[in-house]
Amino acid sequence: MPAEIPARVLTLAGSSVQVFADAPTACLAAAGRIAEAVKASLAARGRAVLGLATGATPEPVYARLVALHREGALSFARVSTYNLDEYYPIQPLDPLSYRSYMHWHLFQHVDLAPDHAHVLDGTVPEAFAAEHAAQFDRWIAADGGLDLQLLGIGRNGHIGFNEPSDLSVDDARKLPTRLVPLHPITRTDAAREFGGEDKVIPRALTMGVAPILAARSILVLAFGPRKAEVVAEALRGPVTAEVPASLLQTVPGKVTWLLDEAAAHQLVYDSNLR
Ligand code: GLP
Repeated sequence: MPAEIPARVLTLAGSSVQVFADAPTACLAAAGRIAEAVKASLAARGRAVLGLATGATPEPVYARLVALHREGALSFARVSTYNLDEYYPIQPLDPLSYRSYMHWHLFQHVDLAPDHAHVLDGTVPEAFAAEHAAQFDRWIAADGGLDLQLLGIGRNGHIGFNEPSDLSVDDARKLPTRLVPLHPITRTDAAREFGGEDKVIPRALTMGVAPILAARSILVLAFGPRKAEVVAEALRGPVTAEVPASLLQTVPGKVTWLLDEAAAHQLVYDSNLR
Protein backbone atom coordinates (compact mmCIF):
# COMPACT_ATOMS: atom_id res chain seq x y z
CA MET A 1 0.00 0.00 0.00
CA PRO A 2 1.52 3.40 -0.94
CA ALA A 3 2.39 5.43 2.17
CA GLU A 4 0.10 8.29 1.25
CA ILE A 5 -3.19 6.39 1.45
CA PRO A 6 -5.48 8.07 4.03
CA ALA A 7 -6.52 6.11 7.10
CA ARG A 8 -10.06 7.52 6.82
CA VAL A 9 -12.08 9.29 4.14
CA LEU A 10 -15.27 11.17 4.97
CA THR A 11 -17.59 13.47 3.09
CA LEU A 12 -18.52 16.49 5.20
CA ALA A 13 -20.36 19.60 4.01
CA GLY A 14 -19.66 18.73 0.38
CA SER A 15 -15.92 18.33 0.99
CA SER A 16 -13.80 15.21 0.88
CA VAL A 17 -12.01 14.89 4.21
CA GLN A 18 -8.98 12.62 4.21
CA VAL A 19 -7.36 11.79 7.52
CA PHE A 20 -3.78 10.55 7.48
CA ALA A 21 -1.76 8.81 10.15
CA ASP A 22 0.54 11.83 10.40
CA ALA A 23 1.35 15.18 8.82
CA PRO A 24 4.38 14.04 6.76
CA THR A 25 2.21 11.41 5.05
CA ALA A 26 -0.52 13.96 4.36
CA CYS A 27 2.11 16.29 2.85
CA LEU A 28 3.34 13.55 0.53
CA ALA A 29 -0.26 13.04 -0.56
CA ALA A 30 -0.71 16.80 -1.07
CA ALA A 31 2.40 17.00 -3.26
CA GLY A 32 1.13 14.02 -5.25
CA ARG A 33 -2.22 15.77 -5.84
CA ILE A 34 -0.49 18.95 -6.94
CA ALA A 35 1.77 17.05 -9.35
CA GLU A 36 -1.30 15.24 -10.76
CA ALA A 37 -3.18 18.53 -11.15
CA VAL A 38 -0.23 20.06 -13.02
CA LYS A 39 -0.01 17.07 -15.37
CA ALA A 40 -3.77 17.02 -15.99
CA SER A 41 -3.86 20.76 -16.79
CA LEU A 42 -0.81 20.50 -19.05
CA ALA A 43 -2.48 17.63 -20.92
CA ALA A 44 -5.78 19.52 -21.20
CA ARG A 45 -4.58 23.02 -22.10
CA GLY A 46 -0.81 23.08 -22.27
CA ARG A 47 -0.28 25.01 -19.03
CA ALA A 48 -1.15 24.90 -15.34
CA VAL A 49 -1.96 27.59 -12.79
CA LEU A 50 -1.39 26.98 -9.08
CA GLY A 51 -2.43 29.00 -6.06
CA LEU A 52 0.19 28.58 -3.32
CA ALA A 53 0.22 29.00 0.45
CA THR A 54 2.89 29.81 3.03
CA GLY A 55 3.13 29.04 6.75
CA ALA A 56 4.74 26.11 8.52
CA THR A 57 2.12 23.61 7.34
CA PRO A 58 3.01 23.32 3.62
CA GLU A 59 6.83 23.34 3.99
CA PRO A 60 7.13 19.53 3.54
CA VAL A 61 4.81 19.76 0.51
CA TYR A 62 7.30 22.07 -1.20
CA ALA A 63 10.19 19.78 -0.19
CA ARG A 64 8.42 16.90 -1.92
CA LEU A 65 7.63 18.97 -5.05
CA VAL A 66 11.32 19.92 -5.26
CA ALA A 67 12.28 16.23 -4.89
CA LEU A 68 9.85 15.28 -7.68
CA HIS A 69 11.38 17.99 -9.85
CA ARG A 70 14.92 16.73 -9.15
CA GLU A 71 13.85 13.18 -10.02
CA GLY A 72 12.64 14.49 -13.38
CA ALA A 73 9.04 13.66 -12.48
CA LEU A 74 7.67 17.23 -12.42
CA SER A 75 8.44 20.34 -14.46
CA PHE A 76 7.22 23.85 -13.71
CA ALA A 77 8.26 25.13 -17.15
CA ARG A 78 4.65 25.70 -18.19
CA VAL A 79 3.28 26.47 -14.72
CA SER A 80 2.23 29.86 -13.32
CA THR A 81 1.87 30.37 -9.58
CA TYR A 82 -0.06 32.91 -7.52
CA ASN A 83 0.62 33.19 -3.81
CA LEU A 84 -2.15 33.78 -1.34
CA ASP A 85 -0.68 36.65 0.60
CA GLU A 86 2.18 38.93 1.61
CA TYR A 87 2.81 41.19 4.57
CA TYR A 88 2.45 44.91 3.88
CA PRO A 89 4.66 46.80 3.72
CA ILE A 90 7.68 44.50 3.36
CA GLN A 91 10.72 44.21 1.12
CA PRO A 92 10.87 41.03 -0.98
CA LEU A 93 14.37 40.30 0.34
CA ASP A 94 13.26 40.58 3.98
CA PRO A 95 13.63 37.03 5.35
CA LEU A 96 10.13 37.38 6.85
CA SER A 97 8.49 38.12 3.50
CA TYR A 98 6.44 35.40 1.86
CA ARG A 99 8.41 36.13 -1.33
CA SER A 100 11.53 35.00 0.59
CA TYR A 101 9.68 31.95 1.95
CA MET A 102 8.69 30.91 -1.57
CA HIS A 103 12.21 31.53 -2.86
CA TRP A 104 13.76 29.34 -0.16
CA HIS A 105 11.19 26.54 -0.24
CA LEU A 106 10.33 26.31 -3.95
CA PHE A 107 11.16 28.97 -6.52
CA GLN A 108 14.98 28.73 -6.45
CA HIS A 109 14.88 24.93 -6.72
CA VAL A 110 12.62 24.43 -9.75
CA ASP A 111 12.28 25.50 -13.38
CA LEU A 112 9.48 28.00 -12.72
CA ALA A 113 9.99 31.16 -14.81
CA PRO A 114 10.50 34.26 -12.61
CA ASP A 115 7.74 36.12 -14.44
CA HIS A 116 5.33 33.23 -13.79
CA ALA A 117 5.86 33.21 -10.00
CA HIS A 118 3.47 35.85 -8.70
CA VAL A 119 3.55 37.09 -5.12
CA LEU A 120 1.65 40.21 -4.06
CA ASP A 121 4.11 43.11 -3.84
CA GLY A 122 4.73 44.42 -0.34
CA THR A 123 6.58 47.43 -1.76
CA VAL A 124 3.75 48.91 -3.83
CA PRO A 125 2.94 52.49 -2.69
CA GLU A 126 -0.12 52.43 -0.44
CA ALA A 127 -2.07 54.72 -2.79
CA PHE A 128 -1.72 52.01 -5.45
CA ALA A 129 -2.26 48.94 -3.23
CA ALA A 130 -5.92 48.58 -4.26
CA GLU A 131 -5.02 48.81 -7.94
CA HIS A 132 -2.18 46.29 -7.49
CA ALA A 133 -4.59 43.88 -5.75
CA ALA A 134 -7.21 44.30 -8.50
CA GLN A 135 -4.48 43.71 -11.07
CA PHE A 136 -3.50 40.47 -9.30
CA ASP A 137 -7.10 39.21 -9.73
CA ARG A 138 -7.00 40.20 -13.40
CA TRP A 139 -3.72 38.32 -13.90
CA ILE A 140 -5.27 35.16 -12.43
CA ALA A 141 -8.33 35.55 -14.68
CA ALA A 142 -6.14 36.22 -17.74
CA ASP A 143 -4.20 33.04 -16.93
CA GLY A 144 -7.49 31.10 -17.14
CA GLY A 145 -8.11 30.87 -13.38
CA LEU A 146 -6.48 28.68 -10.75
CA ASP A 147 -6.38 24.96 -11.47
CA LEU A 148 -5.62 24.18 -7.84
CA GLN A 149 -5.43 26.37 -4.74
CA LEU A 150 -3.38 25.09 -1.79
CA LEU A 151 -4.64 26.43 1.55
CA GLY A 152 -3.66 26.33 5.18
CA ILE A 153 -5.97 27.57 7.91
CA GLY A 154 -5.37 30.03 10.72
CA ARG A 155 -6.49 29.20 14.27
CA ASN A 156 -9.21 31.83 13.82
CA GLY A 157 -10.38 30.18 10.58
CA HIS A 158 -8.64 32.56 8.20
CA ILE A 159 -7.76 31.47 4.67
CA GLY A 160 -4.92 33.48 3.16
CA PHE A 161 -5.29 36.58 5.32
CA ASN A 162 -9.07 36.73 4.88
CA GLU A 163 -9.78 37.28 8.55
CA PRO A 164 -13.05 36.72 10.48
CA SER A 165 -15.63 39.47 9.90
CA ASP A 166 -19.29 40.27 10.43
CA LEU A 167 -20.02 40.46 6.70
CA SER A 168 -22.93 38.50 5.25
CA VAL A 169 -21.97 35.21 3.62
CA ASP A 170 -22.82 36.68 0.18
CA ASP A 171 -20.59 39.71 0.73
CA ALA A 172 -17.76 37.62 2.18
CA ARG A 173 -17.81 35.29 -0.82
CA LYS A 174 -17.31 38.30 -3.12
CA LEU A 175 -14.24 39.69 -1.31
CA PRO A 176 -11.51 40.49 -3.85
CA THR A 177 -7.77 40.59 -3.35
CA ARG A 178 -7.01 43.57 -1.11
CA LEU A 179 -5.04 45.19 1.72
CA VAL A 180 -6.27 44.04 5.17
CA PRO A 181 -5.48 44.50 8.85
CA LEU A 182 -4.41 41.31 10.63
CA HIS A 183 -6.60 39.81 13.34
CA PRO A 184 -5.22 39.73 16.93
CA ILE A 185 -5.01 35.89 16.87
CA THR A 186 -3.01 36.03 13.63
CA ARG A 187 -0.63 38.55 15.17
CA THR A 188 -0.21 36.36 18.26
CA ASP A 189 0.54 33.34 16.08
CA ALA A 190 3.09 35.29 14.01
CA ALA A 191 4.84 36.70 17.10
CA ARG A 192 7.50 33.98 17.24
CA GLU A 193 8.67 34.54 13.64
CA PHE A 194 8.78 38.31 14.14
CA GLY A 195 10.40 38.19 17.61
CA GLY A 196 7.41 39.61 19.52
CA GLU A 197 3.76 40.44 18.95
CA ASP A 198 4.47 44.18 18.78
CA LYS A 199 6.93 43.53 15.92
CA VAL A 200 4.44 41.69 13.69
CA ILE A 201 3.67 43.74 10.56
CA PRO A 202 0.01 44.50 11.23
CA ARG A 203 -1.30 44.52 7.66
CA ALA A 204 -1.09 42.30 4.61
CA LEU A 205 -2.17 41.96 1.02
CA THR A 206 -4.33 38.87 0.62
CA MET A 207 -5.88 37.05 -2.27
CA GLY A 208 -9.63 37.51 -1.84
CA VAL A 209 -12.22 34.92 -0.95
CA ALA A 210 -13.72 35.23 -4.46
CA PRO A 211 -10.62 34.14 -6.41
CA ILE A 212 -9.96 31.35 -3.87
CA LEU A 213 -13.49 29.97 -4.24
CA ALA A 214 -13.23 30.27 -8.04
CA ALA A 215 -10.28 27.82 -8.16
CA ARG A 216 -11.19 24.61 -9.97
CA SER A 217 -10.00 22.55 -6.99
CA ILE A 218 -8.96 23.44 -3.46
CA LEU A 219 -6.65 21.48 -1.17
CA VAL A 220 -6.74 22.45 2.52
CA LEU A 221 -4.05 21.25 4.92
CA ALA A 222 -4.39 21.33 8.71
CA PHE A 223 -2.26 19.47 11.20
CA GLY A 224 -1.90 19.19 14.94
CA PRO A 225 -4.21 19.67 17.94
CA ARG A 226 -4.13 23.49 17.71
CA LYS A 227 -6.15 23.34 14.49
CA ALA A 228 -8.70 20.72 15.67
CA GLU A 229 -11.30 23.18 16.94
CA VAL A 230 -11.29 25.43 13.89
CA VAL A 231 -11.31 22.46 11.49
CA ALA A 232 -14.48 21.20 13.19
CA GLU A 233 -16.03 24.69 13.02
CA ALA A 234 -15.18 25.03 9.32
CA LEU A 235 -16.57 21.62 8.39
CA ARG A 236 -19.35 21.06 10.91
CA GLY A 237 -20.38 24.58 11.86
CA PRO A 238 -22.62 27.05 10.04
CA VAL A 239 -21.35 28.88 6.96
CA THR A 240 -20.30 32.25 8.35
CA ALA A 241 -17.79 35.00 7.60
CA GLU A 242 -16.82 34.70 11.29
CA VAL A 243 -15.03 31.48 10.25
CA PRO A 244 -13.76 32.25 6.74
CA ALA A 245 -12.81 28.60 6.06
CA SER A 246 -16.50 27.67 6.50
CA LEU A 247 -17.13 29.57 3.24
CA LEU A 248 -15.49 26.57 1.53
CA GLN A 249 -18.78 24.75 2.23
CA THR A 250 -20.35 26.95 -0.48
CA VAL A 251 -18.31 25.29 -3.25
CA PRO A 252 -19.26 21.62 -2.76
CA GLY A 253 -17.32 19.05 -4.74
CA LYS A 254 -14.23 21.24 -5.16
CA VAL A 255 -12.60 20.99 -1.74
CA THR A 256 -10.38 18.26 -0.28
CA TRP A 257 -9.19 18.53 3.31
CA LEU A 258 -6.00 16.65 4.17
CA LEU A 259 -5.70 16.27 7.94
CA ASP A 260 -3.66 14.37 10.45
CA GLU A 261 -5.40 12.51 13.27
CA ALA A 262 -4.82 15.36 15.74
CA ALA A 263 -6.44 18.02 13.53
CA ALA A 264 -9.37 15.69 12.76
CA HIS A 265 -9.90 14.89 16.43
CA GLN A 266 -13.04 17.02 16.90
CA LEU A 267 -14.79 15.76 13.78
CA VAL A 268 -17.33 13.19 14.84
CA TYR A 269 -16.82 10.03 12.87
CA ASP A 270 -20.21 8.71 11.90
CA SER A 271 -21.96 6.56 9.31
CA ASN A 272 -20.22 8.13 6.33
CA LEU A 273 -16.87 6.95 7.71
CA ARG A 274 -15.07 4.37 5.66
C1 GLP B 1 -0.60 32.32 7.98
C2 GLP B 1 -0.89 32.48 6.46
C3 GLP B 1 -1.94 31.51 6.01
C4 GLP B 1 -1.62 30.18 6.66
C5 GLP B 1 -1.95 30.26 8.12
C6 GLP B 1 -1.55 29.07 8.95
O1 GLP B 1 -0.62 33.48 8.67
N1 GLP B 1 -1.24 33.78 6.02
O2 GLP B 1 -1.95 31.44 4.59
O3 GLP B 1 -2.39 29.16 6.08
O4 GLP B 1 -1.50 31.48 8.67
O5 GLP B 1 -0.18 29.03 9.17
P1 GLP B 1 0.58 27.74 9.69
O6 GLP B 1 0.58 26.76 8.56
O7 GLP B 1 1.97 28.22 10.02
O8 GLP B 1 -0.17 27.23 10.87
